[in-house]
Amino acid sequence: MKFVKTIAIALTAVVGMSGTALAAEGPEHPMQMEWSFEGPFGQFDLPSVQRGWQVFREVCANCHSLKYFHFRNLSAIGYEPDMIKAFAAEYTVPGGVDDSGDPVTRPGRPADAIPAPFANEQAARAANGGALPPDLSLIVKAREDGPNYVYSILNGYGETPAGVSIPDGKHFNKYFKGDAISMPQPLSDGMVDYQDGTPNTQEQLSKDVVNFLSFVADPHLPARHRIGLGVVGFLVIWAFVLYRSMKKLWKPVKEGKNFYEDA
Ligand code: HEC
Repeated sequence: MKFVKTIAIALTAVVGMSGTALAAEGPEHPMQMEWSFEGPFGQFDLPSVQRGWQVFREVCANCHSLKYFHFRNLSAIGYEPDMIKAFAAEYTVPGGVDDSGDPVTRPGRPADAIPAPFANEQAARAANGGALPPDLSLIVKAREDGPNYVYSILNGYGETPAGVSIPDGKHFNKYFKGDAISMPQPLSDGMVDYQDGTPNTQEQLSKDVVNFLSFVADPHLPARHRIGLGVVGFLVIWAFVLYRSMKKLWKPVKEGKNFYEDA
């Protein structure tokens, strides 16, 4: 017994210590925002997702790709085929090779994925101080507490506090591991002009682009949540029907009648 107790104490100590170590060294915990798509029946805020696409297009697409998201998928957030064609045509994508074997490019089409703005990884790193801007298709799924994390990164820049040293070419960001990120602050107040009159503050631009990236990472969420709601509705009605029939069936028994003789 003594042996078991010693092991238990040792384990508690180790777990306790690693917890403290993590708390001391890790980046700040993300800000906790409210997202319309959270919860079992949550849905995307479509006007916000559309504004987020504008933010992505005008800002993030200068460095990041969305290789699992195709222009045609934009129909799910309310864009007509003509608009989708026009969005795609703004991009240049690899178009195979010409007759002499040299690579050529062509304008994007609705079936293309949203391409990287760099020809290859080396070019991307060279333009970003050695860091590779990751593909953002699944970023909100790939990071713990993804929507809040991405929102916090976008709003986590600021003066480098005294005593913290940031390597050349990096920027202080309290939500990024090591507090130093290679991405320069991408968003600030007024950076994108919205047509629907929504204030274009840094927080709003960030919120909209996170809504967009959450849609990109899980475009089937609306359908799944609608089906879930339908199933719950069905179960509620079904439970009510069962309850009523149970009452009816047991009524004679409860009233003390002999079910078979009185029937
Ligand atoms: C000038 C280029 C540039 C622009 C513009 C840019 N990024 Fe980045 N981004 C980077 C680079 C480089 C990294 C890699 C940072 C690192 O590893 O230190 C990065 C990393 C990220 C990360 C990943 C953080 C992680 O946990 O790995 C997210 C999320 C992100 N960017 C979102 C965005 C969003 C959203 C936008 C548009 C609002 C945007 N970026 C605009 C260059 C850019």
